[in-house]
Amino acid sequence: KILILDFGSQYTQLIARRIREIGIYSEIMPYDVDESAIKDFKPNGIILSGGPESTTHQDAPKSPEVIYTLNVPILGICYGMQTLAMHYEGKVATSDHQEFGHARLSLLNQANPLFEGVGHSAYLDVWMSHGDKVTQLPADFSILAETPTCPIAVIAHQSLPIWGIQFHPEVTHTEQGEQILRNFAVGICGCETHWTTDNIAEEIIHDLRQQIGADKVVLGLSGGVDSSVVGTLLHKAIGDQLTAVFVDTGLLRLHEGDQVMALFAEHFGMNVIRIDAETRFLDALGEESDPEAKRKIIGRLFVEIFEEEANKISGVKYLAQGTIYPDVIESAGSKTGKAHVIKSHHNVGGLPEHMKLSLVEPIRELFKDEVRRLGTTLGIPHHLLYRHPFPGPGLGVRILGAIKKEYADTLRQADAIFLEELNRSGWYDKTSQAFAVFLPVKSVGVTGDGRRYEHVIALRAVQTIDFMTAHWAHLPYELLSTISNRIINEVRGVSRVVYDVSGKPPATIEWE
Ligand code: XMP
Repeated sequence: KILILDFGSQYTQLIARRIREIGIYSEIMPYDVDESAIKDFKPNGIILSGGPESTTHQDAPKSPEVIYTLNVPILGICYGMQTLAMHYEGKVATSDHQEFGHARLSLLNQANPLFEGVGHSAYLDVWMSHGDKVTQLPADFSILAETPTCPIAVIAHQSLPIWGIQFHPEVTHTEQGEQILRNFAVGICGCETHWTTDNIAEEIIHDLRQQIGADKVVLGLSGGVDSSVVGTLLHKAIGDQLTAVFVDTGLLRLHEGDQVMALFAEHFGMNVIRIDAETRFLDALGEESDPEAKRKIIGRLFVEIFEEEANKISGVKYLAQGTIYPDVIESAGSKTGKAHVIKSHHNVGGLPEHMKLSLVEPIRELFKDEVRRLGTTLGIPHHLLYRHPFPGPGLGVRILGAIKKEYADTLRQADAIFLEELNRSGWYDKTSQAFAVFLPVKSVGVTGDGRRYEHVIALRAVQTIDFMTAHWAHLPYELLSTISNRIINEVRGVSRVVYDVSGKPPATIEWE
């Protein structure tokens, strides 16, 4: 397995993913993690990531000394190369001109194991992103490649298994980047490529049995990807020792509660308790119209109900959670403070500490796409695993202002028609998130001889990679027309449909 020491590059997670895609387990740790954590991990190789700092500064982050004593291969990428060059008493300087984007690398020593199989040409097109560069080669190193503006672009130690590369092999813009990482991890470090989703499933299930023994576990099942995969893994590992609690807040999508029960309870035979808490949620929300206040009420009540149910099960020792690797990296944080500034919304609540349960987090080492692939091997249907994200507070933040049951019922129907048409036309998979919003304003309409004075439904569909910025989806007019007609004709209480054409920023994806 490969250890990646993070100096705060925005690409660090990509390095981990590339290594895992090759079939090798990898983990990211902050560069200043305890020496013992590095030793305990027993890496077969270490990669030093890039980073936003400059090694020329006095207090710049340094690679921990211990890595040079472990006798495992080291690959420094960008900042990682610069810090290891400094360690061996080379020199780094801030360039007069920074280099961002494509560069052509001339290979001076194609026979080096790092370049094994990267083609016959003496050139390699790579992606650069750096201000500093190594200006004086450290003793006992040789230069393997150069570019016109960066004469020391790839270096290797003459006797130790240590390499430094100024470019980024982890980005897809670097030709043969994967091959270079593979050469390092497999060829040089000798890692085996066993990290496949089938093996992961078996390994996780085995570990869960070991960890839990004959004890009982409770899980909050939401029907989302992460809790579904965790539930299925646990069910396979410990069967009825697992109790899943599914809280129906009354703010879910059409038929969602029934679908969760049909799949998990009936099809998989999982022990699922469904709590119909619609009335409690509506009562607690009352006339509240402030979005953050509504979020808090929903979150708090969710935890309260979950706890009540968990307390009813005698002798529960563990609480299972669908924490995934990006959550772990995010909350551990990098002390450089530069990476991972992108925060995602936390899901409903966060469970209370006073519950005194030990945590079981079987997918905390996986990325989202790995969780999805694992879900597929576990037999969870594709449509569930590849569903658009749904916020914890659900329709509670899609009914603007105060929430009423009839508003939620109207919205559910309109939303279902929207999603059905998106699926039918192939647009569901081309959008990242799509949903209907209930506007509590009335507008005049006319049907037949009658005048209608009813509510407005807004449609929102966005395309995004990271949900931090988003474009509104350019849905075809005919499709919008079909959806609008169906909603106005089929859903009582709606006289007008509008389409949201705001990007994020300045608008957010949700309306509240
Ligand atoms: P915004 O509206 O901030 O949404 O552009 C970005 C993403 O976060 C989701 N979202 C939430 N998820 N609890 C959640 O679990 C929330 O309170 C919440 N608010 C927004 C939103 O659906 C989108 O995917």
